[in-house]
Amino acid sequence: MLIRLVALAALFGFLFGFDEGVIAGALPFITKLFGITAAGEGMVTSAVPLGAVAGAILAAIWADALGRRMVLIICSLLFGIGALASGLASGEVVLVVARLMLGIAIGASALAAPMFLAELAPARQRGAVVSAFQLMITIGILVSYLIDMMLEPLGAWRWMLALGAVPAIVTLGGIWFAPESPRWLVMRGRNEEAETVIAAVQPELGREAAAEIVRDIAASQASAPKSADWSQFLSERMRPIASFAIIAFLLQQVSGINAVIYYAPTILGHAGFDGASTQLAATVGIGIVNVLMTVVAMFIVDRLGRRPLFIIGFLGAAASLAVIALTMNSGNPEMAPVALVGLFVYIAFFAVSLGPLPWIYMSELFPLSMRSRGMAMASVANWGCNFLVVFLFPVVVAAAGAAVTFAIFCGFCVLGAIYAWARAPETKGASLEDLEKRGLAVTA
Ligand code: GLC
Repeated sequence: MLIRLVALAALFGFLFGFDEGVIAGALPFITKLFGITAAGEGMVTSAVPLGAVAGAILAAIWADALGRRMVLIICSLLFGIGALASGLASGEVVLVVARLMLGIAIGASALAAPMFLAELAPARQRGAVVSAFQLMITIGILVSYLIDMMLEPLGAWRWMLALGAVPAIVTLGGIWFAPESPRWLVMRGRNEEAETVIAAVQPELGREAAAEIVRDIAASQASAPKSADWSQFLSERMRPIASFAIIAFLLQQVSGINAVIYYAPTILGHAGFDGASTQLAATVGIGIVNVLMTVVAMFIVDRLGRRPLFIIGFLGAAASLAVIALTMNSGNPEMAPVALVGLFVYIAFFAVSLGPLPWIYMSELFPLSMRSRGMAMASVANWGCNFLVVFLFPVVVAAAGAAVTFAIFCGFCVLGAIYAWARAPETKGASLEDLEKRGLAVTA
């Protein structure tokens, strides 16, 4: 049962990545067919992160009101309908609306699925959940690139978008038959049901131990300060944590990652790669590096520590972005392979550091009573900034050129390195309780 639930939550991560990445291969067809401008291109692409801002806010409200399971049922429906509607879209407006739906599903499930899983999984397996979710995002992106590459010669861009409905049907079936989170059930006073769920998920425990766990959950909920409301983020103790979580995500986004993820083939065009099939093959390469380096991150983040890794990530990303900027629209065909190597190195540094670290920090730094609100707040910052970057990218490229745009991303990464140096705390090896006790007496 536990394995099935982990697979289910992971599938939401997969859908997140798939619906982010898939537009890369479809966009060149869409811009031609619908004859849209740079701003229209930005709008179609960035409708996903814009919807996700709303999704993150809705999830924070719905997860308590409706339950984690119901939120994930709604997300599965939106994933399915959004994918079909974008595949069938008759014009720009329908496409934007369909992608807003996908965005809501991504933003809401990115909060609700890991929450659901963390509440069901035994404590010792919780850490792996965060990294596994990020890994599934990158796998979803890679699979979408592979599908784009395979369907491109057929011109089947509608199928690229519509295929996202298939995993959505699987998640719908899975979540339909899944139990509700025991913590939510206890919150509702449904303690007996919670016991049944825990006994089913961890059969080795037996009924008495399950009852014991439910009593613990109830006790900790009763003693949790009811005043854990939004204003606490402004308290002296929470302010440094909250601002660090938000700034870490903002910096992650202004490093330009999603310009690369959503527009990779277009960028490769600026680098001098001609022909959609060559561009998409190179894009698949980017997707592979992203997956592999995320696996590497899972192994080294506890050895090297978060702080050095964060600083190194920004420095490496800045250096590779500088190289990419120099290769853009150079008119020299010999620069094309240099740009590709630059993009590979950039993705490698991102995936090993800037990608997973803000998520890891966020799951470690907020005290339990503030964790779900803290995560909602940081997610809104993440998606809001993701939206701005993805919307503005084609507009700024049209106005100032691709070279200038990448130079700007490079500048942000230099700032990121300085910020990480000055503020990033080391949380390696400390238990959540230690961190809570330290009141994050670390540098943040
Ligand atoms: C991180 C970012 C997300 C990005 C992904 C790429 O999860 O938060 O915006 O698309 O990495 O792998």
